[in-house]
Amino acid sequence: MTSKTVTLTDNATGKVIELPVHEGSHGPDCIDIRSLYKELGYFTYDPGFMSTASCSSAVTFIDGSEGTLLYRGYPIEQLAAQSTYLEVCYLLLNGDLPSSDELHDFSRIIKEHSMMHEAVRGFYDGFRHDAHPMAIMVGVVGALSAFYHDATDVHNPEHRKISAHRLISKMPTIAAWSYKYANGQPFMYPQNRLSYTGNFLAMMFGVPTSTYEPDPTFVRALDLILILHADHEQNASTSTVRLSGSSEANPFAAISAGIASLWGPLHGGANEKVVMMLEDIVHSGKTVEEFVARAKDKDDPFRLMGFGHRVYKNYDPRAKIIREMTHKLLAEMGGGEHDPLFEVALKLEKIALEDEYFVERKLYPNVDFYSGIILRAMGIPLNMFTVIFALARTVGWISHWNEMMQDPESRIGRPRQLYTGSKTRDYIAIEDR
Ligand code: SDX
Repeated sequence: MTSKTVTLTDNATGKVIELPVHEGSHGPDCIDIRSLYKELGYFTYDPGFMSTASCSSAVTFIDGSEGTLLYRGYPIEQLAAQSTYLEVCYLLLNGDLPSSDELHDFSRIIKEHSMMHEAVRGFYDGFRHDAHPMAIMVGVVGALSAFYHDATDVHNPEHRKISAHRLISKMPTIAAWSYKYANGQPFMYPQNRLSYTGNFLAMMFGVPTSTYEPDPTFVRALDLILILHADHEQNASTSTVRLSGSSEANPFAAISAGIASLWGPLHGGANEKVVMMLEDIVHSGKTVEEFVARAKDKDDPFRLMGFGHRVYKNYDPRAKIIREMTHKLLAEMGGGEHDPLFEVALKLEKIALEDEYFVERKLYPNVDFYSGIILRAMGIPLNMFTVIFALARTVGWISHWNEMMQDPESRIGRPRQLYTGSKTRDYIAIEDR
């Protein structure tokens, strides 16, 4: 904490209090309001937490006006260009880049945990065949706590570490099996000879009747998408994981809550909605301009999915990276840049970046605007887009959970409210109502 303070005067009573200010390594300082209610009898009011820091964290830093994203201090552009998702997992979890021996050991451990208890397979049979894979993920991940009684002490660092490794390692298997179940295909087991991301593609698209070799171009493209989605500060799903974990619930239950929150179309579910919106535009026979007009019409609930962000009031740095990669991948796939969906996306982006409504509200394309297009180009089905986002974000969620469980300032999250309901009144017997 710095010696900086702010002075607050209650004009109703004339009472004046000094509130301490916390200074971070990047970003805005924070006013510590923990004594406010005790000293002045007020709560603060901040629906959606637009101006509220829920915790201190060293995992990820975002500067929305600069379009900056750092994982443990490393710029996302450098990690995207030089790292791998598994190395980024080590970085987010442990705080520093691994040595080659540390990375080799971490990779071995993650491979060791990729199998699932055979009884987990039975969980899938309980879902309707057309269940959304995200519904399956929420259920299966939450159920993992029924299998791992050997590491349930959330205050034991070794228990927290093995739970983190199990989650990072098993998410590709759970995700791929969700896809296989929905398509009535046999489940494929993990193959330790493959990379983390290649293994996921093999479990998704491989079949028992032939050997599946993942396309190196797709492996690199998907690995990059996983890196870009690995963490993002205190977003809705990460805050959900922190709040549910603050009651000392087990990590599988907390991550399952995070998956549920990510599923929302305003959050991680947006990548699926972006492609559905682009398909609507392509098949509607209407112009892009007509859809943009609808997005600006207050009486029309339609919004441009993939645009806008609570924090980024500049271009989402992840969207820039994915945009370039999408161009490259579609070109490598033989002129796919003429994909009507991609052409509509580029036109929509151009119009929105010039339109006064979007400019004055600083509504730029976000990570979801392009990720759906590239996943679609790779043959990943629409209902698996958010599943892949959840797979990638698991390391971010569990890194924040782990940080919270070690934070001496951490306590159970219990926000207050501005009560606007009925004032106290007496019960009326039913015959008198
Ligand atoms: C992710 O938090 C994270 O970090 C999330 C994420 C991560 O990695 O975890 O980055 C991933 O969730 C990205 C966001 C994906 N969601 C979408 O693309 C859905 C479409 N976007 C919007 O729903 C919206 O922009 C949000 C939810 C992303 C942000 O909402 P805010 O910050 O609450 O902004 P707002 O709703 O108050 O909008 C401000 C103004 C409003 O107009 P006015 O009332 O001021 O006139 O901008 C308008 C909104 O109507 N607006 C849009 C719009 N987004 C905001 N208008 C049209 N289309 C849009 N997409």
